[in-house]
Amino acid sequence: MNKTALLSQLDEIIEKYGGLKDNLLQILLDLQKVSGHNYLPEECLEEISSQLNLPLSKVYEVATFYSMFNHEPKGKYIIEICNSAPCHVEGADDLTQLFEDVLGIKVGEITTDGIFSLQHSSCFGACDISPAIKIGTEVYGNLTKEKIEEIIKEYRGE
Ligand code: FES
Repeated sequence: MNKTALLSQLDEIIEKYGGLKDNLLQILLDLQKVSGHNYLPEECLEEISSQLNLPLSKVYEVATFYSMFNHEPKGKYIIEICNSAPCHVEGADDLTQLFEDVLGIKVGEITTDGIFSLQHSSCFGACDISPAIKIGTEVYGNLTKEKIEEIIKEYRGE
């Protein structure tokens, strides 16, 4: 989406929430959804600050406080590979390699179709099925190459 279209979408979101400062979190959540790359573009944060009459520092404070907000473009789905000690011991490195091979990208990159990005994360409480991964709120473990390919196809809607 180009910048003008995105700013116009942002106007609609702000209007939907009555232009109220108290709805900043909801506005940021909606913005990330429509941004096209699952993140909060800087120019939009400036616009929010101006339209809500809030200091930019306050908008950034909220935008950086919550881990669900991204500040760099990401894929539609973010695959998080746990790299904390228990998952590491159970083969998180090999699992990372498998994902990199299947997706054709490295950790920190986005697939060319914009659907996936790959990143490491810390423990999210699925150590019993380590090495574990998370896509949104879905958690997967005990993964083989075949299972990974299945999951990727499912998210791509193939
Ligand atoms: S250490 Fe990986 S999910 Fe807990």
